[in-house]
Amino acid sequence: MKIVVIGAQWGDEGKGKIVDFLAEESDLVVRFSGGANAGHTVVHGDATYKLHLVPSGVIYQDKKVVLGSAMVIDPESLFSELQTLQEQGIAWEGRVFLSDRAHLVLPSYKERDRELDAQRRNPIGTTGRGIGIAYAQKADRDGIRVADLADDDFLPSLRPEEREFLDPYIERFRKMSVNLSSFMEEYREARVLYEGAQGALLDLDMGTYPFVSSGCSTAAGACLGGAVGPMDIDGVLGVFKAYSTRVGNGPFPTEFRSERDGDLGNQIREIGHEYGVTTGRPRRTGYLDLPALRYSCRGNSITSLVLTHLDVYDQFDEITVCVGYRIDGEEDTAFPSSCRRLERAEPILKVFKGWKRDISGIKSYDDLPREAKEYIQFIEDFVDTPVGIVSVGPERSQTVIRQGVWQSR
Ligand code: GDP
Ligand code: IMO
Ligand code: MG
Repeated sequence: MKIVVIGAQWGDEGKGKIVDFLAEESDLVVRFSGGANAGHTVVHGDATYKLHLVPSGVIYQDKKVVLGSAMVIDPESLFSELQTLQEQGIAWEGRVFLSDRAHLVLPSYKERDRELDAQRRNPIGTTGRGIGIAYAQKADRDGIRVADLADDDFLPSLRPEEREFLDPYIERFRKMSVNLSSFMEEYREARVLYEGAQGALLDLDMGTYPFVSSGCSTAAGACLGGAVGPMDIDGVLGVFKAYSTRVGNGPFPTEFRSERDGDLGNQIREIGHEYGVTTGRPRRTGYLDLPALRYSCRGNSITSLVLTHLDVYDQFDEITVCVGYRIDGEEDTAFPSSCRRLERAEPILKVFKGWKRDISGIKSYDDLPREAKEYIQFIEDFVDTPVGIVSVGPERSQTVIRQGVWQSR
């Protein structure tokens, strides 16, 4: 069985937590896109793991994980992350594989990324990890791939500074690299999880262009980066928060505004610890945007939603969601393609009664407060997609399963 996990908003929805949770019953985890711009958090017991490149299944000592073909891999970042994992007691040698079709990120890309963003008319607020530059080099057909490092005929074509940087990594990369297409043969009948990075609204094509990342963070990315065709995918899980966040610049129609929402933005940021894993930047916060979520569901064939951070709303009298936009005096429920239009969009809001109870220890769906279930039911009806998992806290065990994932279609 092949299950894809993607973010259905602007990233940081809790993909790492959910992939870690589901990995227990999987045979292999393949991260399919992005690079060290991602920050996926896994909390288990007293330990917190912050992953950027390594797939979230790595925490289980018996699981194999793969960095997929559509990823862009910064060797420095990869080995420092692996070193940290080792120090946290996670033995990774022999379990972490790299698709030899993946591209590399060199130090100069990171410098160029920062320079370029500063020069943009409308800076994106990138993570400065060289992601856009690596994907541009790839599209320009001038990138360096993992496979190139295993090719003695290629190495002399590297520029001296590239060679100097890459030399210490060549042997390690050779040992870890695989032809993913052949590698996946063994997993034909196995349970494979495809872990996305970023979110559908940060995808280069589907997202709020130009305020997006440069990889493919939609479900389609699993095919591009995971050596699997669309007909072999059995389910797509779309992870979303009970509210919205966004890091960096770009339109965000439901962003909390003090004149309308008082201190709600800061309160949600503090209760939800909404600070970036990769850059430490405070995340922008806002209401759940249902037209945006419906757009993600449709464009990714999301079969089941995973609602996270529901506990963050525990103490509030009211929960508010966006059910449409007012743009240039007209009401619309479609997610606009144009960033300018999205920037002019005023959210149409609907208010729900809060549950005013601590739900962080709840284990079964039936035990959730009635108000929470009504909120979930409304979301399901609006986006026409079931919510199969509800997350009520960062810890692995704080996960309420309503519909099992590893069942046959
Ligand atoms: P990812 O990039 O999608 O993997 O998400 P991040 O790790 O960047 O951000 C999600 C943050 O929320 C992390 O600090 C998680 O530990 C935490 N988290 C995940 N699920 C929940 C949840 O249901 N409730 C709360 N309160 N925190 C959560
Ligand atoms: P995970 O996987 C949230 C954002 C950056 C910036 C834009 C482009 O943890 O959900 P880039 O460095 O990729 O060129 O930056 O995309 N961004 C993310 N925001 N979560 C992420 O990943 C992100 N990866 C990139 O903040 O606005
Ligand atoms: Mg993140």
